Amino acid sequence: MSGRGEPGGYDPRTQRTGAVMPDRKQTIESLEIEHRVFPPPPEFAAQATADADLLRRAAEDPEAYWAEEAARLDWMSPWEQLVDRSNHPFYKWFVGGTLNASVNCLDRHLAERADKVAFHWEGEPGDTQTITYADLHERVCRLANGLRSLGVGRGDRVAIYLGMVPELPAAMLACARIGAPHTVVFGGFSPDSLRDRIQDCECTAVITADEGWRNGKTVPLKANTDEALTECPSVTSTVVVRRTGGDVGWVEGRDHWYDELVAAQPAECEPEAMDAEDMLYILYTSGTTGKPKGIVHTTGGYLTGAASTHRYVFDIKDDDVYWCAADCGWVTGHTYIVYGPLANGCTGVLYEGAPGFPAEDRWWEIVERYGVSILYMAPTAIRTFMKWGPEHPAAHDMSSLRLLGSVGEPINPEAWMWYHEHIGGGRCPIVDTWWQTETGCIMISPLPGVTPTKPGSATFAMPGISADIVDEAGNSVGLGAGGYLVLTEPWPSMLRTLYGDDERFVETYWSQYEGKYLAGDGARRDDDGYYWFLGRIDDVMNVSGHRLSTIEIESALVDHEAVAEAAVVGRSDETTGQAIAAFVTLKGDVTGDEELIGTLRKHVATRIGPIARPKSIVLTDDLPKTRSGKIMRRLLRDISEHRQLGDVTTLANAEVVADIADMAESARAAGDED
Ligand code: WT7
Repeated sequence: MSGRGEPGGYDPRTQRTGAVMPDRKQTIESLEIEHRVFPPPPEFAAQATADADLLRRAAEDPEAYWAEEAARLDWMSPWEQLVDRSNHPFYKWFVGGTLNASVNCLDRHLAERADKVAFHWEGEPGDTQTITYADLHERVCRLANGLRSLGVGRGDRVAIYLGMVPELPAAMLACARIGAPHTVVFGGFSPDSLRDRIQDCECTAVITADEGWRNGKTVPLKANTDEALTECPSVTSTVVVRRTGGDVGWVEGRDHWYDELVAAQPAECEPEAMDAEDMLYILYTSGTTGKPKGIVHTTGGYLTGAASTHRYVFDIKDDDVYWCAADCGWVTGHTYIVYGPLANGCTGVLYEGAPGFPAEDRWWEIVERYGVSILYMAPTAIRTFMKWGPEHPAAHDMSSLRLLGSVGEPINPEAWMWYHEHIGGGRCPIVDTWWQTETGCIMISPLPGVTPTKPGSATFAMPGISADIVDEAGNSVGLGAGGYLVLTEPWPSMLRTLYGDDERFVETYWSQYEGKYLAGDGARRDDDGYYWFLGRIDDVMNVSGHRLSTIEIESALVDHEAVAEAAVVGRSDETTGQAIAAFVTLKGDVTGDEELIGTLRKHVATRIGPIARPKSIVLTDDLPKTRSGKIMRRLLRDISEHRQLGDVTTLANAEVVADIADMAESARAAGDED
């Protein structure tokens, strides 16, 4: 493991990180064109929801700003104290206030927007549903009642393991309605990953489906759940959505069909009055150890941040059709598909499947069909579309688009420009939004009607947010320099702790710099104060905008009977941002061949999920180690990226390096083929 300041970490002097971003090409590229500035188009600025005055007011009095933003929500009883700072870093927001998130997302819109579309949903096979706010309210109430009938109540944790079907947001809101924190587990995760999450927060119920659709194939969600549940004694019931109609196993007494459960329920459901600080959900994300962290978000602060940032960053108007093309299994889906947009009474698009199914213009067909006006996606998707070619978007009328967003990883200027031209028709502002599962909502981003953008820069801190870049000693590095990104004041949607592990919460985020939140990203500010993100400073990779821990993948590899030792690094990849490169030594009696490599890649996919499948695996007799026995991941990263290797004479086994470099080259070529 290499943490901050160790060989794999980010070096503020050179502005280089051991993690892959920025690769040299990108840094040079961004430096070359960072003088390009795109001011907000005047017509856009003239109608924008967020203006310079908003920024000024927030800067003058951030607490008054957050009080005003929170007041846009419907509170059941008002808060007595805006923020309680007495027990750093365990901040509390809107102390004493009560509210219900599902009421804010649904009930309060019914008087004026009952028939407004909440979601245009499109299944991968082409089936569609138009779901109004009244429809969604009814679905949520019925399911909430159904969950209560199964004995699920306030404070119980519920796992949700579904594809992108309408029942997924409905399930999240049904949990919120009865005060049962949800933990959504991405439908691409394996039974083991599901099991670990259920066990960690001791869920009492799981909401899943028979199967999901992905790339024309079915994903065995119920079978995976059954496998996970053999080791989850806390779970007493499951609710199963019929999606594909495929055969499933059944445990009488435990398993319930969703449609049968909700049909018997009333269409109204009394919501729980939740304390602002009551947990709304737990979402697991990879950290620097093998054990995922359960990020805890609360009701009042989180919802305030979600609704407020959604409104301003995406300039939401009543007639917008907004598409955040993420999955609800990640925080982007929580904040910008479900809680933010619905709190704002916005019309959204939900798409179930893969971008290339059945053809490479599926997304653009959707944009055209629903008249999407705001589109939010990850750079990895943009780069995939670049690869597929501009003729696909060009074949569709996308003149409805007026604003584009990017999230999940640094966007390289080339992808930014392509997005701007080929998707935005040269007329749409782009908001490059930096945030994390932990921050709950966008922290650094342009305001589309105010901020002149520079391709590749997330620009400035949001209203009400205080950020800085510091050096190793914790001193602000000022303009034109790089270092570690910190947030210097608490904010409403900040994580409150790691589930069941206050100590790791303090240690991970608050122990490096007195009173400051350490984000784990390297960044620099240019002379104009624009933030440029440079990638993680720890052993966390970012593959297609998904956070993965090197250690988690190493554990999965070592868990295979043939493997003695494994080291995993992220190397830069044209499409996915980073790709997983593994280096493996085998047990003495095992001979390695192509077949074994295939088996090991599959093994990791089975253990964690297909997103964790290594792109290349090098079998080697030895791994480069320091004399104290620490694996030099930094060196493996340099090898993987064809970087000049520094002094290797301090290694205990310098002779292995040349061999590994040769093998990495051929493994890389093979990995790029699939
Ligand atoms: C990490 C957080 C935020 C929702 C999706 C990912 C990287 C995220 C950007 C951006 C550069 C970005 C950071 C961050 N990241 N957005 N606009 N520019 N880097 O959430 O899984 O919690 O990952 O993603 O490294 O720490 P996450």
